[in-house]
Amino acid sequence: MRSKKIVVFTGAGISADSGIKTFRDADGLWENHRIEDVATPEAWQRNKELVLKFYNERRKQLKQVEPNAMHLFIADLDKKHEVKVITQNVDNLHERAGSKHVLHLHGELIKARSTVNPNLVYTLKKDTIELGDKCELNSQLRPHIVWFGEEVPEMEKAYELTEYADLFIVIGTSLNVYPAANLLTTVSAYTPKVLVDPGTFNLDYVNNLKHIKSKAAEGVSALQEAIELFLK
Ligand code: APR
Repeated sequence: MRSKKIVVFTGAGISADSGIKTFRDADGLWENHRIEDVATPEAWQRNKELVLKFYNERRKQLKQVEPNAMHLFIADLDKKHEVKVITQNVDNLHERAGSKHVLHLHGELIKARSTVNPNLVYTLKKDTIELGDKCELNSQLRPHIVWFGEEVPEMEKAYELTEYADLFIVIGTSLNVYPAANLLTTVSAYTPKVLVDPGTFNLDYVNNLKHIKSKAAEGVSALQEAIELFLK
C-alpha cells in the first residue's frame, strides 16, 4: 500500500475507552457539573476558582488514564502513512500513544494561557493553575481551553488538512458541536470516510461514508479492514 494522507478526526468517545467520560452522557452533566458552570467565558467571569478547580481535577484524572488500543492504532498508522490527527479532546492521549501531528481544536489541559494575550501559551510545569498564578504580563493564567461561545482559532488549519485527505476517519464524536462538526461535510464527496462510533447518526447526506457502529477500542480491526479496502 502506498503512503497516503489520512486525517483522523476524534472526539470524546475515543477517550471514553480510556476512562474519561464523554460530555453528553445521559445525565447531561460533565463530571457532575453543568457545562455553563465550568466551560464558558461567563463561568470564568463569575467564579474563577470553581473553573480552575474543575480543570485541575481533569488534569489530575488525566494522569490516571492511559491511551487505549485505538489511540495506539492511530499512532501506528504514522509508520506507513502521512497521518494528521484533528481532535476535539483536551487530553493528551494521542500524543502519549505516539501520534506526531495532533491539532487540538478545543485546547489542551496541560497548557495555560494568559488572560490578556491569547498568544501567550505555557506548558504547565505543575498539575494545577491557582488563583494568583500569572503570565509574564502579570495577568491571571486561565486553562488553555476553548470554552463554549469562544472562537476556535485552529479551525482554518483543520479545514486545510481536511482538504488534502485521501481518507477521512472520524472516531467517537456526536458531531454536535460546531464549527468542528462541519469538518465532515467539507471533505470532498469522492474522499472515502469512515466513522467509528457506537451511536446512531443520520448522515445520509454524506457521500462515501462507512459507519462502523462500535466502541473505539473494539473497532480497531474493522477500521483496519476498511483502511485496507479504501486505500488499496
Ligand atoms: N468509543 C467510541 N465512541 C464512543 C464511546 C466509545 N467507547 N462511548 C461513547 N462514544 C461516542 C458517543 O456515541 C458520542 O457520539 O462518543 C460521542 C461523544 O459525544 P460528545 O460527548 O458530544 O463528545 P464530542 O463530540 O467530542 O463533543 C465535542 O463538545 O463538550 C464539548 O468541547 C467539548 O470537545 C468537546 C465537544
